[in-house]
Amino acid sequence: MNFCTLLSLLLGFFSCSLFVNNGLVAVQALHKVYPELQSLENNDTEIKQLYRTGFHFQPHRHWMNDPNGPFYFKGIYHLFYQYNPEGAVWGNIVWAHSVSRDLINWKSLKPALSPSKPFDINGCWSGSATVLPGFKPVILYTGIDSQNRQVQNYAIPANLSDPLLIEWVKPDNNPIVEPGTEVNASAFRDPSTAWLSFNGHWKTIIGSRSEQTGMAYLYRSKDFLNWTKAEQPLHSVPNTGMWECPDFYPVVRFGRFGLDASVTGNWVKHVLKVSLDLTRYEYYTVGKYYPTTDKYVPDNTSADGWNGLRYDYGNFYASKSFYDPMRKRRVLWGWANESDSVQDDVSKGWAGIQAIPRTVWLDPNGKQLLQWPIMELNRLRWKRVMMIHQELVKGQNIEIKGITAAQADVEVIFSFSSLDKAEAFDPSWVDAQAVCSQFGSTAQGGVGPFGLLTLASENLEEFTPVFFRIFKAEQNHVVLMCSDARSSSLKDGLYKPTFAGFVDIDLSSKKLLLRSLIDHSVIESFGGGGKTCITSRVYPTKAVFEDAHLHVFNNGTETITVEYLGAWSMRSACVN
Ligand code: FRU
Repeated sequence: MNFCTLLSLLLGFFSCSLFVNNGLVAVQALHKVYPELQSLENNDTEIKQLYRTGFHFQPHRHWMNDPNGPFYFKGIYHLFYQYNPEGAVWGNIVWAHSVSRDLINWKSLKPALSPSKPFDINGCWSGSATVLPGFKPVILYTGIDSQNRQVQNYAIPANLSDPLLIEWVKPDNNPIVEPGTEVNASAFRDPSTAWLSFNGHWKTIIGSRSEQTGMAYLYRSKDFLNWTKAEQPLHSVPNTGMWECPDFYPVVRFGRFGLDASVTGNWVKHVLKVSLDLTRYEYYTVGKYYPTTDKYVPDNTSADGWNGLRYDYGNFYASKSFYDPMRKRRVLWGWANESDSVQDDVSKGWAGIQAIPRTVWLDPNGKQLLQWPIMELNRLRWKRVMMIHQELVKGQNIEIKGITAAQADVEVIFSFSSLDKAEAFDPSWVDAQAVCSQFGSTAQGGVGPFGLLTLASENLEEFTPVFFRIFKAEQNHVVLMCSDARSSSLKDGLYKPTFAGFVDIDLSSKKLLLRSLIDHSVIESFGGGGKTCITSRVYPTKAVFEDAHLHVFNNGTETITVEYLGAWSMRSACVN
């Protein structure tokens, strides 16, 4: 009996066969439209296994972008996503639908929403789910109507006694929100999960812009059907352009448990996340929400706009979180787009993966979120190798042997005995990515660069280093974290950025933690226990399957100790 069949029996409803992942496998601007590639006549294009992932969520074939409307209902997690059923480029967008009992193994169902009515005939775009009292899920989504306007629609399950909620109905009283005369009808989309106020009113936000001011319009309703626009948006920021996929939710001030969207009070803070169409990056602020006036004010510790905090400093966009009442946590989904060419996608027969769902909670410092892969992922861990108390002197590089380095989970605790050798930090270095590009992983430093070389070929012609470098500023130390794709592949025509972020961390323990999830064409890294996260998509040509290698390295003059390293071969999940 293979692993997936066993799992199907355990889970009760899966019938997928073993997805043998033989495939080891520019954040593209906007959803470019390629009419000639959008609906390929030959739908039997062979799906190239190279670069497909083993434990990330992806459809069996074709194009996927945003995660939509995740929620939990009667023992089952639902995930919908923007999907082109006819090709590996964006277009013909429907809400594809998959279900799971553990957020890792998924069964794909038929699309829940497809264009069919005047209010969505040109596309069923992103949106969210809200579970109304009495366990009644409702989807709010953006329809592209017959006049190509962006309008907001709702859909409900046809049969609430079906735990898989296979059939969805789009009632004829749609659309329930139209742009009207004040709102830009081509920039009005992606309704959020709604929350219920103390006075029984539902509220939701919708992404938009007015000129170049990005904003989240606020709508209120007593019955979830008739919605009125509030005079003031929940929040807006000049010169940020279109806000896509806004997400707004409470987090507890202290603790890891998550909260339903409707919770308010002095013991919570709120998080507002927006996806900036102009940069294709996401930014969030932590702040205070005033339910009576429906104002949201970011804390003065949270930069508002382009320089704000990011969930992920790499390839991660259009994310959406939901409250999981089963495990009392908030779970975040985000789309990791391809970094190869459109031609590559067409020839692979697919494009787009979802990052591993992450639990998110507020850092006890109150200034930022912490993120960690959901614990269910650990069940895929299989063979482990360990390294304990291993010193790495300057220029030392040790291979971690004995695991499938192309499909692995690695956790490391690095330590150092002093920061005396930290190089001076120039206060003009505000752009972490530029600093990483300048220093890289190979040139010698003081404290660092040290970290992992992932997806490395035998002779290091290809490798993606994930590493830290610590600098000394006037008042404190500055920790830089990088995931550098420049040497990731010998192939041309790929987007190979040096993604980077600063890690706001107390170094008094003289330790730094790193976890990397490596899955053929993706490396998701969590620095400082989930303070700074970076996702890179890479396409090695030599470092594939069993020819991929993993190393720890140090190129700084300060000796670094690997206090602990655990690396696991990861099993493949049953995905769609
Ligand atoms: C974000 C986005 C959304 C839109 C959807 C269309 O990636 O542009 O704003 O609803 O994708 O697929």
